[in-house]
Amino acid sequence: MKFNHSNIKKSKFFLDKGHCVAIPTETVYGLAASAYSNRAVKKIYKLKKRPKYNPSIVHYSNLEQLKNDCILNKNFFVLYKKFCPGPITFILKLKKNSKISKYVTNNKKTLAIRFPKHALVRKLLKKLKYPLAAPSANISTKISPVSKEDVIDEFGKKIKFILDGGRSSIGLESTIVSLIKKPQILRLGGIEISKINRALKINLKFNKKRKKIITPGQGKTHYSPGIPIRLNIKRPKLDEAFILIKKRKSSAKNFYYLSKKKNLKEAAKKLYKTLRMIKKDNFKSIAVEKIPNIGFGEAINDRLIRASKF
Ligand code: TXA
Ligand code: MG
Repeated sequence: MKFNHSNIKKSKFFLDKGHCVAIPTETVYGLAASAYSNRAVKKIYKLKKRPKYNPSIVHYSNLEQLKNDCILNKNFFVLYKKFCPGPITFILKLKKNSKISKYVTNNKKTLAIRFPKHALVRKLLKKLKYPLAAPSANISTKISPVSKEDVIDEFGKKIKFILDGGRSSIGLESTIVSLIKKPQILRLGGIEISKINRALKINLKFNKKRKKIITPGQGKTHYSPGIPIRLNIKRPKLDEAFILIKKRKSSAKNFYYLSKKKNLKEAAKKLYKTLRMIKKDNFKSIAVEKIPNIGFGEAINDRLIRASKF
């Protein structure tokens, strides 16, 4: 995709003035503002109707910038070298003298950070004197946006500017790894756990039933299209949208395919778009075929389970 430099300038202009701008990333679009400005970060929470207790991810362009705000450790450097820039978020200890707004962290002593890979947002980050706090650019608990049109769908004209970077290539949020004590996977996402395990030479698993909520944003209801979803369905009802993992020979008006040949990466990319499309097509409920719980399938199932609890 060709970059429109005047759009990067425009984004910088609004961000420097303390406004929110929607930014493209390879995972999903984010609603961004200066992570160093209380006033700017408060605007994100207001627009998203996001509870204050749910901290945001901060997006950096380089290590030097990150060193001002966080304490880095060995596991971080291993994963950074392997996966950054890319769809992985780290939870690190916040430095005492960091300039990160208390509204980003909800006054906590840890920070979620990531280095997005999307070339347009990297270009923008390089031009800024501050990192960008950016939760996904959707109203709290709703479906995350993977294109400019989705962001407009969520917010209409309420955002000053949307930096159009085309369709997000991964289409699911970043994987979150806590590196505060022993490494822990807090959210499944754009990088499979098996790859993280290989890099760290350990055997982490995603614990769905964690008692204490340490990722406040991973509450039970999330990614919701606002209509009921039934999972692991073989035969849908006639008036129900039916999401399938693999294209079938016989098709029907209510069939929505996530991939041609059961490719889970392709399916992950299509998931949020498909949920949005079904809503637009005015279906009142959704049935989903069983999706293999391996690799990206685990992340897809995680999102669908949360989306079904609306
Ligand atoms: O792919 C992504 O990560 C996208 C793009 C825009 O970068 N961002 C994203 O942000 O998904 P958000 O706010 O929708 O999800 C961030 C998650 C939330 O569940 C939040 O609770 C968790 O990260 N989080 C943020 N800071 C945390 C912290 N210090 N400790 C534990 N969890 C944290
Ligand atoms: Mg989100």
